[in-house]
Amino acid sequence: MDSFVEAGQAHLFKHYGSLSDQEKKHLELQLSEIENPKNLVATVQEAIQFSKSAGEKSFAQLPKQSTSSTIEQSKEHLDRWFDLGLKAIANNEVAVLLLAGGQGTRLGCSDPKGCYDIGLPSGKTLFQIQAEKILKVQQLAKEKHPQSEPTVQWYIMTSGATREATESHFAKMNNFGLKKDQITFFNQGTLPCFSLDGSKMLMSSKSAICESPDGNGGLYKAIVKANLVEDFHKKHIKHIHMYCVDNCLVKVADPQFLGFAIEREFALATKAVRKRDAGESVGLIVLDEQKQRPCVIEYSEISPELAQKADPHDPAKLYLRAANIVNHYYSVDLLEQMLDKWTSSQEHLPFHIAKKKIPSLDLETGEFVKPEEPNGIKLEQFIFDVFPSVELDKFGCLEVERAEEFSPLKNNTAAANDNAHTCKKHYLELGTKWVREQGGIVPEGAFVEVSGLTSYHGEHMEFVKGKEYKDGDQI
Ligand code: UD1
Repeated sequence: MDSFVEAGQAHLFKHYGSLSDQEKKHLELQLSEIENPKNLVATVQEAIQFSKSAGEKSFAQLPKQSTSSTIEQSKEHLDRWFDLGLKAIANNEVAVLLLAGGQGTRLGCSDPKGCYDIGLPSGKTLFQIQAEKILKVQQLAKEKHPQSEPTVQWYIMTSGATREATESHFAKMNNFGLKKDQITFFNQGTLPCFSLDGSKMLMSSKSAICESPDGNGGLYKAIVKANLVEDFHKKHIKHIHMYCVDNCLVKVADPQFLGFAIEREFALATKAVRKRDAGESVGLIVLDEQKQRPCVIEYSEISPELAQKADPHDPAKLYLRAANIVNHYYSVDLLEQMLDKWTSSQEHLPFHIAKKKIPSLDLETGEFVKPEEPNGIKLEQFIFDVFPSVELDKFGCLEVERAEEFSPLKNNTAAANDNAHTCKKHYLELGTKWVREQGGIVPEGAFVEVSGLTSYHGEHMEFVKGKEYKDGDQI
């Protein structure tokens, strides 16, 4: 209690005397999760300053030596990367980390996003689409390396809001054919919400503080808490592929991307697609010119001028256009070094603030209010804020084709983009293209669904040659 009073949080105990024993316990338990209240309050002030300083930095495109593009590479080169990645999978050196803790606020859906059926003829959910990619890539690795027994470990980060529904979906679907012991669920943490000036923690009742998930950058703390690095070592895992649950085109455990990072000996790599237009809600992968380190400017933090700036060498294009699709490669060595450093020092990823309407007790009157205007701050860490910890020559950015790799489910169908309709359309368009390329006949305006169990990225589709398909067929 004292440490909270010292940190200016005496109001948390204003009603303590009138609480039942159970309520007292609840409040104490919640507060016990906060190791050092004074540091936390200082961190919130740092976050407020940090949010004001974004405009003072100068950003440029990443240098050529840090980037590569699958669109410009020869097939031979891409195949070499693919084979290198498959070899690592066959050696059981690869694990996949999935970010699935988000609450889908913009989508307006209370189920975890991964349980969402985007309307494919098969009715598959995002989790199923992703699980089948894992099954397929294991099969491809086995074909290439018949002596191996490839198993890709799948680590799934959930939050208090998504854990139970996620686990029951997996159980109901019999883990989609994956082995139970290749799937590990672990939870991200939460952080208290603060008043707008960052000085006071908000309370959701007389016996509870307001909390919100700590953002997808909470992954790193969650890895430490769940002892995952130890698990990686035990399983001889050297390479991690991390991605977001909302992308229906994601190539899970992508051998080509793994091969790119392994061949170039990058400790951290990321994929990018060309930004659609200046207003697209995506972060941008850029160079922080002062620090000469890679970083991401988030869409909520970029100025309209910088977002709209044209490329002086090619004015038809945006200057900063490497859109972040939250798809990373980490070497386990790098993860371990970073996490050790943070655990043994006061260093941490920055906190970002979002001003929100947070239903809470009015600090003056003690009445519960549902505000009409933002009344508080939610704190989040962003997964990409590790980029500046990596030397430029250990960081790689791979541009990939949007139509083959990125179609996220963010919004409800009232929005023009990134909704269930656009996800379904892009998924079906890609499969239909593979079928047509191999001489399958799909009438104009018709679309077929190619299962992840049939093809990972368009391979092994020769059997469709000369066959006729109709709209909605599943292959
Ligand atoms: C994110 C990126 C943005 C990128 C865009 C591409 C961050 C901070 N921003 O933005 O740069 O261009 O995706 O689609 O990464 N998640 C959690 N826990 C949380 C919050 C989110 O696990 O507390 C997960 C979600 O489940 C999802 C992913 O993180 O898989 C992205 O979350 P979302 O909030 O949708 O990110 P965007 O704002 O779209």
